[in-house]
Amino acid sequence: MKKISVIANWKMNPPTKKEAENLFSEAKKAKNKNCELIICPPFPFLYLGKGLSLGAQDCAFQKSGSLTGEVSPHMLKQLSCNYVILGHSERRRTFGESFDMINKKAKAAISSGITPILCVSEETKDELIAIDEIREQIQAITKKISFSKIIIAYEPLFAIGTGNPCPTYLAAKRRVLIKSIISKINQRAKDTPVLYGGSVDEKNCKEYIEEANFQGLLVGSSSLDPKKFKKIVESI
Ligand code: PGA
Repeated sequence: MKKISVIANWKMNPPTKKEAENLFSEAKKAKNKNCELIICPPFPFLYLGKGLSLGAQDCAFQKSGSLTGEVSPHMLKQLSCNYVILGHSERRRTFGESFDMINKKAKAAISSGITPILCVSEETKDELIAIDEIREQIQAITKKISFSKIIIAYEPLFAIGTGNPCPTYLAAKRRVLIKSIISKINQRAKDTPVLYGGSVDEKNCKEYIEEANFQGLLVGSSSLDPKKFKKIVESI
């Protein structure tokens, strides 16, 4: 059986190294043999995560150069980082990342042996527009990328950081839609993991796996609460 991925997106948290050490040591206590745990801390705390599977929250698409503030996937790989979250809606909305840029970043990550976790969001409440939006987004960010080398995370905007999770029936519908879009692009995409993210907590986590059939979860705020996070990992 393929393992369920639980990805912790700490975002720009916690504020101190001491707290990061504590979160890492608590994460190590969360045990579930059916689950692959991936922790995505801010760049400066990656080195503290030895013994855990690690991911970054962004990367550049260039290998090196005069790019103030950027971090390349090649550098991340040397910190034992095997995953990178790309195209999160916070990066797109706050930092103006385009789909083309996300696609370039994903290609660069793959070339460095890092698996991109590509976020797909939905910004409208209009059903027909949402479907087109998801299709266009997937086509753009996965252009000329092998579906065997990526993970997709469905994260509806209204559910991110709001405490207002996506209803399971809608998330299930979107998972089917995403699977059908990617399978039409490439046959091999049938095995691409599709995860759910957006206000996941210890109470709703199971529904997304068991009822909506997602292959994992992208967890934001609940991953900063060791008790909640342990419950999520151990209950799925
Ligand atoms: P949330 O964040 O769990 O706090 O909603 C999820 C995410 O932004 O990846």
